[in-house]
Amino acid sequence: MCGIVAYVGNREAYPILIKGLKRLEYRGYDSSGVALINSGNLNLYKKQGKVIELEKFAEGKNISSTIGIGHTRWATHGPPNDKNAHPHYSGSEELAIIHNGIIENYASLKAELTQRGHSFTSDTDTEVLIHLIEDIQNNTKVELVEAVRIALNEVIGAYAIVILSKDDPNTMIAAKKSSPLVIGVGKDDDYFVASDATPIVEYTKDVVYLDDEQIAVIKKGDPLRMMDIKNQEVTPYIQELEVQLEAIEKGGYDHFMLKEIYEQPTSIKNSMRGRIDVNKGVVSLGGIRDYEQKIINANRIIIVACGTSWHAGLVGEYLFEDLTRIPVEVEYASEFRYRNPIINENDVVIAISQSGETADTLAAIKLAKDKGATIIGICNVVGSTISRETHCGSYTHAGPEIGVASTKAFTSQVTVLSLMALSIAHKKGTVSDSKYRQILAELDAIPTKVEEMLKSDSQITHISDLFKGATNFLYLGRGYNFPVALEGALKLKEISYIHAEGYPAAEMKHGPIALIDEEMPIVVIATKHGNYEKVVSNIEEVKARNGKIIAIVTEGDTEVKAIADHVIEVPATDDCLSPLLTSIPLQLLSYHIAVMRGCHVDQPRNLAKSVTVE
Ligand code: AGP
Repeated sequence: MCGIVAYVGNREAYPILIKGLKRLEYRGYDSSGVALINSGNLNLYKKQGKVIELEKFAEGKNISSTIGIGHTRWATHGPPNDKNAHPHYSGSEELAIIHNGIIENYASLKAELTQRGHSFTSDTDTEVLIHLIEDIQNNTKVELVEAVRIALNEVIGAYAIVILSKDDPNTMIAAKKSSPLVIGVGKDDDYFVASDATPIVEYTKDVVYLDDEQIAVIKKGDPLRMMDIKNQEVTPYIQELEVQLEAIEKGGYDHFMLKEIYEQPTSIKNSMRGRIDVNKGVVSLGGIRDYEQKIINANRIIIVACGTSWHAGLVGEYLFEDLTRIPVEVEYASEFRYRNPIINENDVVIAISQSGETADTLAAIKLAKDKGATIIGICNVVGSTISRETHCGSYTHAGPEIGVASTKAFTSQVTVLSLMALSIAHKKGTVSDSKYRQILAELDAIPTKVEEMLKSDSQITHISDLFKGATNFLYLGRGYNFPVALEGALKLKEISYIHAEGYPAAEMKHGPIALIDEEMPIVVIATKHGNYEKVVSNIEEVKARNGKIIAIVTEGDTEVKAIADHVIEVPATDDCLSPLLTSIPLQLLSYHIAVMRGCHVDQPRNLAKSVTVE
């Protein structure tokens, strides 16, 4: 949450910062701001609301500078208003800071600083940090980077920060712990800093990812100087970015979410690329090869994740138990980490995270790692913190997902989980060769079937129009499609603000059935698999109470068609792969309803793409 961007070099900083902030807006959009050094002054420009408000505010002002820092905020401490917007000044207004994270002990630090005569203009924890840094500098007369280092040793919490000093218009100080930070090494003696690579990729592919508790002195024309907070020198490790510029632009679509829904034939293919050979019957996940035996011998698998990734984890539970016969538990990372879980060395923990930065998921894997478990990551963002904290893992390779509502990341996570479960099951001998080959062939055909599925878009638009005014939705599914029901409900509520609940279809009778009346749309996933007849009975129960049924059915279905109000067909596939198809119409349904209700689809209220606070 919160996006930070910074530049020092020979170009105009402001346009780079604004463009970068727009790319990072998915991380929070409560307010934004920049700090620039021009004509010997350190000036702040900041505004509540989206980056566009900042642009309007800065229009006509002196924004020419070759150094600057920018921030887009997801409010934690203090309401979203101009005064709490970043950057923040130090007491003398000679330093300015941008910060992503939370300083947990800010209240006690603030009390101490207040006693020493500091006064604050905002409610934020960040302002306390920059006051602390300046206080140390004033009292010890050390150089700025040393004051930063000393201050960070006093801080409890998470931070990705960049600091400017009025006295040095060529240098920025950056540091990070538990919040992401990447430095782009430019071609013209210049440097870029950002929360992720999207603001940087246009200018350079050479990047350095800071590790926790590392500090960088970033000076135009000089090599990068890095150390940790214990003052040990660190040699910068320059890596090459793989992400392409086109991947982070809308490419003619109205919204990133729609673009990402439509990218799924490709993103699913990319999740499988080089990993399966259907003719030879081979699944090979290089990233977990060295740990495969450990998984085969595991007492149990624990999957930790949040939100949509947790839903993918639930599909993973069905897949792994079904195919590998290894017991699986799926945990909300936020609950798992605080409930003194029993973990031992024969446990394998799979952490699923699109961003690879989710604070609770990260804390959960650190806990499990300390207790000796083997940690596998399934992340989308290459080089992300979670991907680096795990023993091994497989990237989903879905490409950048910018829309706050996760779509292609979900189907890619399920694809990778399918590959893992299949590979382990085959090696363990818990799936017959013929079944294994059959599922592999089906998996290989999924991208084409998704493409076909997307042709239903206009029909789904029509259904969306009929139900856009509903105030409640129920989503029902069984077996592999129960997690899809949960995911469908989450998608709808997060972008259209319509209340929606997902349930296992049979649970309906234990409470939710009381909600059903002629106003209530009920989305039922009723594909022709194991429990089909039971789902048909559940639909009858809804119809008996005049509920409106939108059913997701297998192509050619006639039974459900006869009783449902609307049916959306998906191509036939194996039960265990059906979430890869049934989730698509639910994504489109929530997308169209949200657009029709005039909601901000890519940046829904109160949300942020990357939840780096607990
Ligand atoms: C889904 O649409 C979400 N916006 C959210 O639930 C997300 O899946 C969750 O925050 C987890 O994020 P991660 O995959 O980056 O860890």
